[in-house]
Amino acid sequence: MRVIRKWVMMTDTKSNKPMNRIFSGIQPTGNLHLGNYLGAIRNWVMLQDSFESIYCVVDLHAITVPQDPEMLRASTREVAASLIAAGISTERSILFNQSCVPQHAELAWIFNCTARLGWLNRMTQFKEKAGKNRENATVGLYAYPNLMAADILVYRATHVPVGEDQKQHLELTRDIAQAFNSFYQKDVFPLPEPQIFGSATRVMSLRNGSAKMSKSDPSDYARINMTDDADMIAQKIRKAKTDADALPSEKAGLVGRPEAENLVGIYAALADREVDSVLQEFGGRGFADFKPVLADLAVAQLSPMGQKMRELMENPADIDAILADGAARAAAIARPLMAEVRDIVGFLGTSTDH
Ligand code: TRP
Repeated sequence: MRVIRKWVMMTDTKSNKPMNRIFSGIQPTGNLHLGNYLGAIRNWVMLQDSFESIYCVVDLHAITVPQDPEMLRASTREVAASLIAAGISTERSILFNQSCVPQHAELAWIFNCTARLGWLNRMTQFKEKAGKNRENATVGLYAYPNLMAADILVYRATHVPVGEDQKQHLELTRDIAQAFNSFYQKDVFPLPEPQIFGSATRVMSLRNGSAKMSKSDPSDYARINMTDDADMIAQKIRKAKTDADALPSEKAGLVGRPEAENLVGIYAALADREVDSVLQEFGGRGFADFKPVLADLAVAQLSPMGQKMRELMENPADIDAILADGAARAAAIARPLMAEVRDIVGFLGTSTDH
């Protein structure tokens, strides 16, 4: 399922720098849940074995829609805590929040002057997020993809793990890189490759197998939060909606049974197994049998993470120190790139942030 190519150490012949670098960003939101973990965070953890990895909590992106300042700060810490608890190494990888490295915003401005209205007008995420009242959307929401391109390219990242919904933004990033390189006749930016986790589990609500598991579901029983303790996880699985039939022994039998499909999918993802193999094992057995097995697995995998996350969140100063260290290391990469870009563009002088 999650086939990730082992990293072959490649070096850029010109600069002799390692060429494979991952960058990815995550929005600061509260109530992180199993869907966030299986959909993105777990992949980030695995990728750090094969790539030099830079992971960023994108607070600049967050304010493209209204945010309560205290909530934004809390969510930034919460997301950082969840990444650390899930196994992002703050030594091997770089973890920081976007606004602490001003080169993101600086390069984004330059990209505002590279990307065309026509390109941004095609972005489906803007259309969805702006909704009917487009006149009232912020300019930041519109220019969101240019900032995302800057996030990636300010580190010359070569690989970008993202969900399917971000594919179009990655294509735009490549267009911007290419347009910049070609306008200035300089081979500055690589064209980053998306690593789409297409096969990543789409985790659905535990109360309704047809709706995505969501932080904003009014029922807390619809989701397993990353901070839930063992009892809570087990209880939520016990209470999860199911149907009355036994599990099928092959995938085709899950069609039209969204709740069954969801629970089997969660089991397969947590066990790192194929759905088919799970069904071969459990086919013919009812949920009374399956749910306790799923609960045990979920508790074993998730509750230590929840515990770690709760501990971290009790010591916010530690999280802040980790992020500050990450920002300093990120800036050490972003500054020389930005100096080079300033020179290429024709700006006189040196940035005061150097
Ligand atoms: N737009 C991404 C999302 O909503 C988050 C993001 C911001 C990102 N900058 C990025 C992802 C750069 C990958 C690379 O999920």
